[in-house]
Amino acid sequence: MRKPIIAGNWKMNKTIKEAVEFVNEIKGQVENTEVEVVLCAPATMLKDMKEAAKGSNVKIGAQNMHFEESGAFTGEIAPAMLKEIDVDYVIIGHSERRQYFAETDETVNKKVLKALEVEITPIMCCGETLEERESGKMEEVIKTQIFAGLKDVTAANIPNMVIAYEPIWAIGTGVTATSEQANDAVAFIRTLIKELYTEEVSESIQIQYGGSVKPANVEEIMNQTDIDGALVGGAALKADSFMELVNF
Ligand code: 13P
Repeated sequence: MRKPIIAGNWKMNKTIKEAVEFVNEIKGQVENTEVEVVLCAPATMLKDMKEAAKGSNVKIGAQNMHFEESGAFTGEIAPAMLKEIDVDYVIIGHSERRQYFAETDETVNKKVLKALEVEITPIMCCGETLEERESGKMEEVIKTQIFAGLKDVTAANIPNMVIAYEPIWAIGTGVTATSEQANDAVAFIRTLIKELYTEEVSESIQIQYGGSVKPANVEEIMNQTDIDGALVGGAALKADSFMELVNF
């Protein structure tokens, strides 16, 4: 049985004070949860969030990380810097990073390998544009992203990572993929993992759906056969809304 995983992706939102208040507000409410609860926040607030979350079931994630250990990469954050504050997760290759910050399948792969090496759980994102879906290229696009992103990732490491399927046309648009579309894509990703590794390995990995998930549709999404969780932007910004997602 794969553990459900609900992760908030706050993107470029919140102050340190707001972030700590959020953690303090939810941590008592997730004491007995069976769900993996993750908040992915901007780098400035991660340390304080980790401290606030100490001893609780709230896991903290970054939204990006460089693949090099150190050096002349102005503005970037090294894996060891996240490790130093004991960050649990890191989102890799979000479509916004691919679109606005020139992330490629190659850099995504390097970052995934690095995150696994330093034992920060990568949440590797993939997803097609509306144009790609409408022209029947969805599977081809996803296959390219998954195969490239997982290059040199060993079978033993697959259970140590998460994949998020986030169709770009459903992100921040209010348009959710139907639960069937989301499940079909996630099931397709699982067949790709099986093709690369084994059926057992493909059954071990948590795969999330992301794109306009909200309290009103989370239950239906989580009830799908292949979807193990949600990666949520807008509806994860308020503690009460986030808790409704966790309590799907
Ligand atoms: P929304 O939930 O705001 O559509 O964002 C989805 C997303 O990009 C999560 O990473």
